[in-house]
Amino acid sequence: MPKATLLLTGGLGYIGSHTAVALAAAGYDFVILDNGSNASVGVLQGLQKIIGISPEFIRADVRDAQVLRDLFAHRKFEGIIHFAGLKSVGESCEKPAEYWDNNVIGSLTLVREALNAGIKKIVFSSSATVYDASNISPLREDAKLGTSNPYGTTKLVVEKLLEDFARSQGLQVVSLRYFNPIGAHESGWIGEKPSGIPANLFPYVMDVATGKREKVSIFGDDWPTPDGTGVRDYIHVMDLAEGHIAAWEALSSGKLKTHQDFETSCNNESRRGTNVASSCNQEGLFFACNLGTGCGTSVRELIEVSREVTGHLIPAIITSRRPGDVAAVWANVSLAQTIFGWTAKRKLRQAVEDGWRFKSQQT
Ligand code: NAD
Ligand code: UFG
Repeated sequence: MPKATLLLTGGLGYIGSHTAVALAAAGYDFVILDNGSNASVGVLQGLQKIIGISPEFIRADVRDAQVLRDLFAHRKFEGIIHFAGLKSVGESCEKPAEYWDNNVIGSLTLVREALNAGIKKIVFSSSATVYDASNISPLREDAKLGTSNPYGTTKLVVEKLLEDFARSQGLQVVSLRYFNPIGAHESGWIGEKPSGIPANLFPYVMDVATGKREKVSIFGDDWPTPDGTGVRDYIHVMDLAEGHIAAWEALSSGKLKTHQDFETSCNNESRRGTNVASSCNQEGLFFACNLGTGCGTSVRELIEVSREVTGHLIPAIITSRRPGDVAAVWANVSLAQTIFGWTAKRKLRQAVEDGWRFKSQQT
């Protein structure tokens, strides 16, 4: 008997597929709904090898209300983990309409149909990008919010949308603000496969290690950080995946019910806006929580570990800063520790080793 049946929108993607593995290991049943815009059904074969069965898959778009209505009429879901969306900062600046349509309209359609079908619990893939660039790390959930690109704006707008539905319609939401997921499942059978030239550091470094690309550009070595290069909070994607299980269990057990509970368990440390118990609807809940390691790693450090793990030179040059970048971003993870009982377990080196295993098996 499964613990619960969950719908994973975007479940063929990088984070969704790893979360599927973690859910299967934890005794959950799930259905993947994905339009295939940034993933292939080959992921299903990887999942089958890892978990032993082929997951149930529906090729569909979250903006298709009729598909959702039909699905919810025939299948019972205790909740939804909503990964589906577009995620490239650069692309969002060129095509903001696509980002608003996919990320915002997609989420609105999903939530509306879920509520109509009586599904009230949702875990949402948010991002550290919702924090204003002026904040000093480590970032707490009550840090100032603000975005600098359309992708980030869609994430923040969806958080607000979910919060409104929590207030008025009893929706119960955990919004997980991911820091920088890297690596792959230890089997090497699933992993991250960016289409085109990778925009993010780790997949780019892996491409250079395989010889697919010549060198890494380090975007500035004059940042106010210990070695002058940008610092981020890189989290193993399996740790991130397990964070979803912990979040779901906190949500489904009723543990997140009230702001008062939260304040008590945090020794009355006040955190604005992280757990909005509904003012109009007693059931409603919006709880935003960071998923990171709490440790910062510089660009130079990540390249150095990648050199050690892969045994390749990984040539790197210093170039100018990337527009919109900030010096250092890492998470305060005490909320996830205290409320979900979750903490990232794997070291940076393991993330690089597992990411490299996946990459090596692809080439
Ligand atoms: P991904 O692109 O690998 O996965 C997203 C999946 O959603 C893909 O399989 C894609 O085909 C599917 N999809 C896109 N639009 C859809 C739609 N309208 N209907 C149905 N399916 C659709 O991305 P990911 O890295 O796994 O990210 C998952 C979520 O986490 C995204 O919402 C992303 O914005 C968020 N996030 C990712 C990161 C990161 O660094 N990877 C960081 C913060 C937040
Ligand atoms: N960097 C380089 N060279 C590269 C790519 C990146 O030096 O080729 C540097 C960046 O300047 C930054 C660090 O490596 O200092 C990490 O950059 P990424 O692009 O890998 O990650 P970001 O933190 O900039 O952004 C990512 C996602 C965002 C998300 C954010 C927080 O792209 O969508 O993490 O989750 F919001």
